[in-house]
Amino acid sequence: MEVVIIRSAAEAGRIAADRVEAAIAGRPRPVLGLATGSSPLPVYRELADRVRCGLDLSHARGFALDEYVGLSYEHAESYHSVVHREVTIPLGLDPDAVEVPPGMAQDLAAAARRYDDAIVGAGGVDIQLLGIGSDGHIGFNEPTSSFTSRTRVKRLAERTRADNARFFGAPEDVPTHCVTQGLGTISEAREVVLLAFGAGKADAVAAAVEGPLASICPASVLQLHERATFILDEEAAQGLR
Ligand code: F6R
Repeated sequence: MEVVIIRSAAEAGRIAADRVEAAIAGRPRPVLGLATGSSPLPVYRELADRVRCGLDLSHARGFALDEYVGLSYEHAESYHSVVHREVTIPLGLDPDAVEVPPGMAQDLAAAARRYDDAIVGAGGVDIQLLGIGSDGHIGFNEPTSSFTSRTRVKRLAERTRADNARFFGAPEDVPTHCVTQGLGTISEAREVVLLAFGAGKADAVAAAVEGPLASICPASVLQLHERATFILDEEAAQGLR
């Protein structure tokens, strides 16, 4: 695991965007793993700037990490909407080649299995962007998620609902369940870049990077990954020894 400590969100965006460009170079149909939330926004901003300057991502496929269960895809905070608005359009991706887990499916378990199959069918993820929850989650794999888990329905931790209330107005407006790629699914990405900013992430980052390999900190599974990079500001890194 590599740890890079940066001075600004813009620097994080540049470093991660360089990784994305390197990971997809020469691949006819590269596959991007897309996180939502605040942390990857500097990367999307940087990639959007590069697209305006000539970078072509129109041949890339994208798979989002997660989606709320029962939230209309048209809702502004559904990850279908967020990914379309913050990633697909600014990065010039083909909307038909960007998939988000099926939070509105009738048979969620079957649809979740098909989502995993679609990732495998696309050849797997070349580079997965991640944020980290203050409780150590990646995707919405909350503490005690199995390291081998696949895309499935999960209940959101109350702490996560409180953290995400800023997008909805109040914690009780945040959906209670999600469909998330599993830790096993995420671990199959050929490269992983996790971004974390602010003191609120320091405990989770320390547990993920230097704590025991333990499902109580789901992000610690990345200790097993051969190509995982944590890009942190000094506040998020302050718990590291
Ligand atoms: C989002 C996701 C979550 C977030 C995490 C951090 O698709 O999977 O794991 O990355 O909750 O969120 P932010 O970046 O908003 O602090």
